[in-house]
Amino acid sequence: MMDRNADAPWSKFDPEAYVDLNYRTPLEVDLMIVRLMRDHFSGCFADGIPDAVRGVDVGAGANLYPALSMLPWCEKILLLEYARPNVEYLEKQASPAGFDVVWDPFWDVLRDDPAYHRVEPRSRFGEIVRVERGNLLDLDGQRRWGLGTMFFVADSMSECPDEFRRGVACFMGALDEGAPFAAAFMKESVGYRIGEHRYPACRVDEHRVRESLEGFADGLEIHDLNHVVRPGHEGIILALGRRNPAIAGT
Ligand SMILES: C[S@@+](CC[C@H](N)C(=O)[O-])C[C@H]1O[C@@H](n2cnc3c(N)ncnc32)[C@H](O)[C@@H]1O
Repeated sequence: MMDRNADAPWSKFDPEAYVDLNYRTPLEVDLMIVRLMRDHFSGCFADGIPDAVRGVDVGAGANLYPALSMLPWCEKILLLEYARPNVEYLEKQASPAGFDVVWDPFWDVLRDDPAYHRVEPRSRFGEIVRVERGNLLDLDGQRRWGLGTMFFVADSMSECPDEFRRGVACFMGALDEGAPFAAAFMKESVGYRIGEHRYPACRVDEHRVRESLEGFADGLEIHDLNHVVRPGHEGIILALGRRNPAIAGT
């Protein structure tokens, strides 16, 4: 039996343990991803920022760098997350106390770009970020955003290939026409452990990621990063692009 999204112990997700495992010591591959995402968004907005862009990070979990990368371009950012402990973690990060210093090394990479340099990240994050508990698989295209990120979610929430494809389709369906996006996937992940709990993953490679995105994207750029950060996967795939004009039926 394959583990489906609804079967995993999301209510037991431990954000502090997750940060310790993944982000407390910044890894070269994450800093590289942040650089690529920064340059992608900067390039997309080089001719000017449209009024009132609203951004979304889907399955934000305990990772602030996707939201930080959207900071200069957005009037508001929504962090959508299913697991309650992660929702609480994110609410604390967005509170007036300011986000943890753990996220500073990621901002240091972003602020090498002038558009980011002009932003004071802690106050701005507190001002424009809102956290909402919600399910990616419930996004049905009724609500849409002008900028979006989804990091290690569609691939890291279920063993089922159909839920992976649905996750990607729900994310892309929640973007306005022309919206820049960034999405990251663990390559060939067999699942992951955080503390006492195991979480499911769907094995994907560059080809699967491309196939899941290409119907929704213009200018799709896929980076196949051969960095292994733990046992049980083979690298990281970063996809950058813009939401294409929606075609009926897609
Ligand atoms: C591997 S973590 C990735 C977290 C974070 N985005 C990152 O880059 O580290 C997977 C995240 O997806 C969330 N998640 C799982 N199922 C979800 C669903 N159906 N809708 C929204 N988020 C979900 C989990 O709670 C968790 O925060």
